[in-house]
Amino acid sequence: MTKSTTRGTISMTNRKTTDETAKRKQDHIEICCNKLHEIEMSVTTGFEDIHFVPNALPDINFDDINLNTEFLKHDFDYPIFISSITGGTKLAKKINTRLAKLAEKYKIGIGVGSQRAALEDEANTDSFAVVRQQAPSVFVAANLGAVQFNNDFTIKHAEKAVEMINADALILHLNPLQEVIQPEGNTNFSNLTEKIKEIGKELKQPLIVKEVGSGISRDIALDLVDGGIPAIDVAGAGGTSWSQIEAIRAKQQGLTKQQKVGELFKDWGLPTAVSTIEVSKFQDMVEIISSGGIRNGLQAAKALAIGAKLVGIALPLACLAATGTEKQLINWMEQFIYELKTAMFLVGAEELEGLQFAPMTVTGKTAEWLTVRGLDEELEMINLRG
Ligand SMILES: Cc1cc2nc3c(=O)[nH]c(=O)nc-3n(C[C@H](O)[C@H](O)[C@H](O)COP(=O)(O)O)c2cc1C
Repeated sequence: MTKSTTRGTISMTNRKTTDETAKRKQDHIEICCNKLHEIEMSVTTGFEDIHFVPNALPDINFDDINLNTEFLKHDFDYPIFISSITGGTKLAKKINTRLAKLAEKYKIGIGVGSQRAALEDEANTDSFAVVRQQAPSVFVAANLGAVQFNNDFTIKHAEKAVEMINADALILHLNPLQEVIQPEGNTNFSNLTEKIKEIGKELKQPLIVKEVGSGISRDIALDLVDGGIPAIDVAGAGGTSWSQIEAIRAKQQGLTKQQKVGELFKDWGLPTAVSTIEVSKFQDMVEIISSGGIRNGLQAAKALAIGAKLVGIALPLACLAATGTEKQLINWMEQFIYELKTAMFLVGAEELEGLQFAPMTVTGKTAEWLTVRGLDEELEMINLRG
């Protein structure tokens, strides 16, 4: 079935592609939750090199610490975003339902996984729409792969993705490494920057551009900021490695060439802390989500202290939602918030803005990265605080 629209045509059913997409989504969750911990990675987030200088006399009451914030003009009770994860399968519906309930309970933001599966087959809409149903009052972000706009997607697809979940923003993800390794990948990225900017101008809702685990450098950020993109999610290296996930899938499918490339590039990317500082050069013009390997509240405090407005988390929440209980998800969130508050208490920050003035030092590999990348000014500004 094909539905004609005024500005393009949206193919509503393509059963073969849909089945492949659903299988791929299922594989991703299974690999993420069952196999990734077996793999030794040498890249880390870089947050281990960022240290707060402790404040032995914080002069605040722990109970008065306030984590409210605003992102793209929406109120958040905590500076947390449940990153884009999934949709399009039965398991995805369960994951999205649980995570949406969590987002609603804590008044935090949530993204859905790529909605291509639902644009290809309306039968998949449900597994995405459930997010808005379960999270009626919070910031919800739609998601599509940017490269699809070099394939067959038009602004109509962007609008449809937003409409499907009554989203407050659309995330376009950049995943060149993943596309190269995926046997079914789309590697024509030519002129994509301009297309993204055009969509940003045409779409009513704000656009967030994100990576998926290799980070965004300051040059790309500058280009996006110049094009009026209001938010960037760095999704840096040190967390979920899509290269590794696709290498495992390739191995399962007997695709040696893709497997080898996936393994070779498993540590590819800008560590999350480095990428966050690179993009924070433009923090007056763009709102930043720091994500990629954020696993605890101390890392979150550091990310917020170096310029992020929110931190994003995908893998741990995806796996807990897939296989754990709702109570475990709540415990995870409580722990994370307690850790973040503890960090704020120990640097005397009653409000999140206070973290950006907390004395810090950057050492080791992260300092080296920043120096060789010419970010001495940013490094010095962090080291001179307090
Ligand atoms: C199972 C799974 C599926 C994902 N699917 C998407 C997706 O459809 N779109 C997207 O933009 N990012 C996707 N991501 C990437 C995450 O949003 C995030 O950028 C990345 O995993 C790094 O965060 P983490 O280290 O906390 O997992 C996915 C991540 C996971 C774990």
